[in-house]
Amino acid sequence: MAGILEGKGVTKYFGGLAAVHNVDFYVHEGEIFGLIGPNGAGKTTLFRIIAGIYAPTSGQIFFRGKEITGRKPYEICRMGITTTHQVVRPFLDMTVLENVLVGAAFGRGWVTGATRDVRKEAMRVLEFTGLAPKANVLAKNLTLPDRKRLEIARALATRPVVLLLDEVIAGLNPTETLQTMQLIREIRNQGITIVMVEHVMQAVMGVSDRIMVLNYGEKIAEGSPQEVATNPQVIAAYLGTSLAV
Ligand SMILES: Nc1ncnc2c1ncn2[C@@H]1O[C@H](COP(=O)(O)OP(=O)(O)OP(=O)(O)O)[C@@H](O)[C@H]1O
Ligand SMILES: [Mg+2]
Repeated sequence: MAGILEGKGVTKYFGGLAAVHNVDFYVHEGEIFGLIGPNGAGKTTLFRIIAGIYAPTSGQIFFRGKEITGRKPYEICRMGITTTHQVVRPFLDMTVLENVLVGAAFGRGWVTGATRDVRKEAMRVLEFTGLAPKANVLAKNLTLPDRKRLEIARALATRPVVLLLDEVIAGLNPTETLQTMQLIREIRNQGITIVMVEHVMQAVMGVSDRIMVLNYGEKIAEGSPQEVATNPQVIAAYLGTSLAV
C-alpha cells in the first residue's frame, strides 16, 4: 500500500498553547486510520490543518507525495481531501438533497466542468448513505443521527480520495453506531482512504486498521487497535476509561 497522506513535524500553536506538537504521521492508501486521544488532545486541530482551514505554525503535509501545506481549503477539497465537521453545520434552510448538491457541485468533480449531472451524483450518494427517503426534508428538521449522516453524505459528494471523519459516531445509539461503522467500511471498500477521529472506543477499535493516539498535542502511540489498547501510556492518558477491544 502506497502512502497517500503524510505529516512531518506538524505543529500548531494557539498563543502559548501547543494544540498539536511535532506530530509525524503516515496514512496508507485504502486504510482506515483511527485518531484518538482525550478531549483537547489536538485531533480536530490536526484535521483542520490537513484540510487547510488552519495553517500549521510549522511542519508539512503531503498528499500523494506532493506538499499541500498552506493550500486553501477549496483547493485541498478539489485535490481530493474532504473533512466532516465535529459540530455538524448543514445549510439548515436547504433540503437534504440541496445540501448534498453543494458538495457534488463544488468538490473534486468541479474541474471537469458543467456537463456532469450533479443531481444524479447527489441522489446516488443519498441512496448509498440511506438518506434518499429524506431527500426533500429541510436539514433543520433532521434528527441528530440524520444530520451526522448528512455530514458524511455532503463530504462524500465531493468525491474524496481521503475522507476525514470527525466524531461521526459520538451521540448515536448502538444500532446507529453499527450502521455507521458498516457505512464507513463500505466507503473504504469503494477505495476511499479514511482517517477517523472518534471517542467511541468500540467503534474506532472495531473499524480501524491502525490507530494514532494524541495527548496534549503530542503523538504518544501508534499501531494496531490491539497494540494501542494495551499500551500503558495510552491507558494512563485515558485514566480509567476502558479501552477493551
Ligand atoms: N481556534 C482555537 N483557538 C484557541 N485554542 C484552540 C482553538 N481550537 C482549539 N484550541 C485548543 O487547542 C486544543 C486542542 O483542541 P482540539 O479541538 O484540536 O482537540 P480535540 O482533540 O479535537 O478535542 P475533542 O475530543 O474535545 O474534540 C484545546 O486545548 C483547545 O482548547
Ligand atoms: Mg475535536
